[in-house]
Amino acid sequence: MQKYHPGLRIAELTLVRLLARGGMSQVWQASRNSESVVLKIFCRDDNWNAAECEECQRYFENEAQWLMKLRHPSLVRGLGSLGTQSPPITMIEFIEGESLRTWMDGNTGRRSLALFQRLARGVTEAVKYIHEQCLMHRDVKPSNVMVTPALSTRLIDLQFVRESPPTFQALDRPMSTGIGAWAFAAPELIDGLEMRYDARVDIYSLGALLIELLTGRPPRRLPPIACRSDVPHALSSLLWEMVDERPENRPGWGDIAPILLPLE
Ligand SMILES: Nc1ncnc2c1ncn2[C@@H]1O[C@H](COP(=O)(O)OP(=O)(O)OP(=O)(O)O)[C@@H](O)[C@H]1O
Ligand SMILES: [Mg+2]
Repeated sequence: MQKYHPGLRIAELTLVRLLARGGMSQVWQASRNSESVVLKIFCRDDNWNAAECEECQRYFENEAQWLMKLRHPSLVRGLGSLGTQSPPITMIEFIEGESLRTWMDGNTGRRSLALFQRLARGVTEAVKYIHEQCLMHRDVKPSNVMVTPALSTRLIDLQFVRESPPTFQALDRPMSTGIGAWAFAAPELIDGLEMRYDARVDIYSLGALLIELLTGRPPRRLPPIACRSDVPHALSSLLWEMVDERPENRPGWGDIAPILLPLE
């Protein structure tokens, strides 16, 4: 397998530094002239069998496709594929900053309600936009949100995006959720027995992410009672409804938007 290292030239790009090594890819910062871009390079694992390899490549290509189609200020933008490369490489805008996971781990003190509202707005807008396109993200979690130095957010990692049916129906097999994702994945996605879910999985994940942003801990490790006393009741009850185990009890955008996306 090709070894990637800082300074390596790929087409008209030069690799600068490895940002992350994901489940099926390496994410590199690269430079094109003096502009920074991100290269997501598909890296097959030697332990995969042919079927797993094909499935992972499908997810990789799925992300490349949606990165070019979806456009929203709170969502990462694709810049195209380096089509001639093997393994495939996707070029993505470079977002300065750090993931919300890293940001929360480094800012453990109490966060003001105003800061919460600012960060929550960006992530909520991105998920709402995806749902308006009749899609679901399926992997909303802190490591898939970037926080910029100006404290705006961008939702990234579109590999699991797919159409959301308006009603429950059988879909592809549930994705395997890693340890990190467990706290944020809707129960119907983890249980997987039913293999039936829709865009309401994102409402759960968004609620779980926002609860950690507000309280410092994701809901599965926090009794509901522990929500902060300075938080308006309408906000805390909305967040706890969003992480209801039953999708039919979760609020829709008509209830979420007035609280998380108030008119400025
Ligand atoms: N456009 C970007 N700009 C800056 N950093 C990025 C960008 N995209 C990804 N990263 C960094 O790389 C990390 C992994 O990216 P991403 O989630 O897209 O990859 P992944 O292979 O799907 O990873 P995982 O399997 O862990 O979810 C992010 O958490 C972030 O730190
Ligand atoms: Mg990711």
